[in-house]
Amino acid sequence: MAAPKPWTIVELLRWAADYFRDKGVSEPRASAEVLLANALGLSRLDLYLRHDQPLTPEELARFKTLVLRRRQGEPVAYITGHREFWSLDFLVSPAVLIPRPETEILVQAVLEVLKTENRKPKTENRGLDVGTGSGAVVIALARELPGMQWVAVDVSRAALDVARENARRHRVAQQIHFFQADLFAGLKPGFGFGAIVANLPYVPRGEWEQLPREIRSFEPPGALLGGEDGLDFIRLLARQAPHYLRPRGWVALEVGAGQAPAVMELLEETGAWHCLETIPDYQGIQRVVRAQRLDAP
Ligand SMILES: C[S@@+](CC[C@H](N)C(=O)[O-])C[C@H]1O[C@@H](n2cnc3c(N)ncnc32)[C@H](O)[C@@H]1O
Repeated sequence: MAAPKPWTIVELLRWAADYFRDKGVSEPRASAEVLLANALGLSRLDLYLRHDQPLTPEELARFKTLVLRRRQGEPVAYITGHREFWSLDFLVSPAVLIPRPETEILVQAVLEVLKTENRKPKTENRGLDVGTGSGAVVIALARELPGMQWVAVDVSRAALDVARENARRHRVAQQIHFFQADLFAGLKPGFGFGAIVANLPYVPRGEWEQLPREIRSFEPPGALLGGEDGLDFIRLLARQAPHYLRPRGWVALEVGAGQAPAVMELLEETGAWHCLETIPDYQGIQRVVRAQRLDAP
């Protein structure tokens, strides 16, 4: 009897995408492509260039293991250990939130104001990232602003390990001082940062159950849950941030859908800010709230 014909790349891609679709896995085609590319050590483009290449039994077995993990709902980024953000490749582990595309709006919002300032001589050039996670935001900023130094804090030691490794891989470790802290604990008021950027947990308690299972079962709840109305951490940050910024320093906060008006109000209550602004993401959701500290808080 003739040996069964080995699967080719194109056949397997079609099979896996259909299988994921049948099982209700999100992004079936993209999942199939990324996982097959990972199993074969190829890029996604290579899959198309080598579409009729047959797989060895070992390659097939490796791919099947990845398919089964994805079938259980595990996010592709945790299976491969990588996620692209700001056109950079970031290592991710279950200790960190998978960086989201909309968070690039936060990076842009900070760059918009700091790029102009950093062209001027004698400007304050230290920034703070609160809740750094994988380090995606601060690393993107450090690469864009090579003259600037950053402090990046997170309560999770395991997340900081991932962030440090990402900073090293992207050659910005010298620009970023990572340390474990609860918001501003361990930082001296009057430190005089030029910018504070934060994507803190903001999911309201009652919305947890509505999140996709893929998120609830795999991503760290401590990176997502922000208390009753989702604003526990942002509220604390809005009150404390003016004391850690220099006059005319900037704060930029990522917020959840519908939270921008409440966050604007929280900032306004302190009387410490001007130039308050919300910035929408590509879906039209007001995603970032940005403000500048007045001369005297
Ligand atoms: C939504 S994730 C953002 C991660 C990353 N900055 C990003 O944008 O992809 C929030 C991060 O804040 C951290 N965090 C939660 N509570 C914190 C606190 N009280 N102080 C500092 N970091 C905190 C979590 O561990 C998590 O890494």
